[in-house]
Amino acid sequence: MSTTIDHLITPHWAPLRNIEQGWAELTEDERAVVAERLEHTLRQPWHVAHQRDALGHFFAFLAQVETIAIEVPLRFLPAADPAAVPRLRRQLVDEVFHSALFARIAHELHLPSSQPPPPLASAEALLARIRSEPDPALSATLLNLVSEGWIEELFEHAGR
Ligand SMILES: [Fe+2]
Repeated sequence: MSTTIDHLITPHWAPLRNIEQGWAELTEDERAVVAERLEHTLRQPWHVAHQRDALGHFFAFLAQVETIAIEVPLRFLPAADPAAVPRLRRQLVDEVFHSALFARIAHELHLPSSQPPPPLASAEALLARIRSEPDPALSATLLNLVSEGWIEELFEHAGR
């Protein structure tokens, strides 16, 4: 059995595994774009004076569900029409960036804990069901319902 010390000591928050799957598909140039956007966004000063705990949970949940958006380009890139490939690659870069940003904010809001609370089991079960859907048409419908509908709903509530 081979293992690394990283595996033994690095806290591993579950949604990061899905972000890593998207990251693994990115080219070096695309990774540089994600890194640059993250650095640029995190350079903006932000400070949370109130409801740190509630916001921490909100961002942890957002990071958890946002990872399903990575699934759209990952699922459709292999058989995509060449004309659609550039758009799907841009989407992959965008969704990896969004997920990484939410996960990073969730981690910062939970400091000094080493990581945010575990993902919600009920949401994880739904996301796992969507990820494992073999039928492309049904999976596209589920992905749109959740990644468009659900995530937009969250933002709408957050904006109030
Ligand atoms: Fe997104």
